[in-house]
Amino acid sequence: MISPEDSIQIQQAVDLLKEEQLVAIPTETVYGLAGNAFSEKAILSIFEVKNRPAVNPLIVHIKNIEAVHEVAQNIPQEALLLAQKYWPGPLTLILEKKDHISNSISAGKTTIGVRVPNHEITLELLNRLNFPIVAPSANRSNHISPTTPAHVRSSLGDRAPFVLEGGSCKNGIESTIVGFKDDQVVLYRHGAIAKEELEDTLQKKLIEFTKDTIAPASPGMFKKHYSPNTPLILTTDLQKELVAHRNQKVGVIPFQNLLSSHPKEWQRVLSTTGNLSEAAANLYRALHEMDSLNLDLIVVEKAPSIGLGVAINDRLERASVQ
Ligand code: TXA
Ligand code: MG
Repeated sequence: MISPEDSIQIQQAVDLLKEEQLVAIPTETVYGLAGNAFSEKAILSIFEVKNRPAVNPLIVHIKNIEAVHEVAQNIPQEALLLAQKYWPGPLTLILEKKDHISNSISAGKTTIGVRVPNHEITLELLNRLNFPIVAPSANRSNHISPTTPAHVRSSLGDRAPFVLEGGSCKNGIESTIVGFKDDQVVLYRHGAIAKEELEDTLQKKLIEFTKDTIAPASPGMFKKHYSPNTPLILTTDLQKELVAHRNQKVGVIPFQNLLSSHPKEWQRVLSTTGNLSEAAANLYRALHEMDSLNLDLIVVEKAPSIGLGVAINDRLERASVQ
């Protein structure tokens, strides 16, 4: 149920979007920087506000599964099957775009990414609009993705738009992105739905995108991405890194167990029970908090490389590229 207060802020967002302005929206994954998908002006200001390279395409957010036919065509059976099972939810499908979808959204490609976000407030917003919205994560390009309204404001600073407040993002990590090529299902980005789960659903193996197997590239695969300002090291051996950097102010993000030998205020555990969903939900907040402590270095312990651990490690690897 939408509260009266939420109904009012949703209406404010509706009005702004109709005027081709931007609004930050809550989703189950991360906050998005949203604009009217049919407004060239709104699309271009998204790229400007984020400082995003024009070659990096945007995800189109639609209100329900039926609306996919308004933006995409020649949709493969397997895509419809996945949409039925996971929408609303953290799965983005790369589909052949309809001609009326702007090339600025697709970065000149013939395909677009589409999903139905699973957040009550944003679904209500979409239901009050007569156009889809495009929304990348609401952070400045290459910075850590936002999972709270405060993260949006700190990452975008004076460029931050009106923020539709929807609490902390439940999944806390971006959607999984898959595309379709011949008879293959291609994983473009690890995300909130584990690869193994999609393979179970489809009863077949996904092939992982690499620059050599499939062109053109998905810029989400850019090497450096999701980075805090503080240098970051990803490791399987926290103690070893602490010894190597013993003269520095080091923040530690253990996967499960707090280090008794290190100041508590410089540590953020991802999940005390070793739960991967919980760790994913805490990841970006931990990075945002560490980044605000003026440390010399952040050392993060690798998650187990299964299920959502693969997406967690993927983001951390990108964050550690110097
Ligand atoms: O969970 C999410 O997906 C969030 C929320 C806001 O929905 N959005 C998000 O957007 O993560 P963004 O822009 O930060 O990442 C979108 C990724 C980019 O890496 C982009 O390259 C890829 O999706 N992408 C979009 N359209 C594509 C296309 N046609 N082909 C290949 N990759 C595409
Ligand atoms: Mg992003």
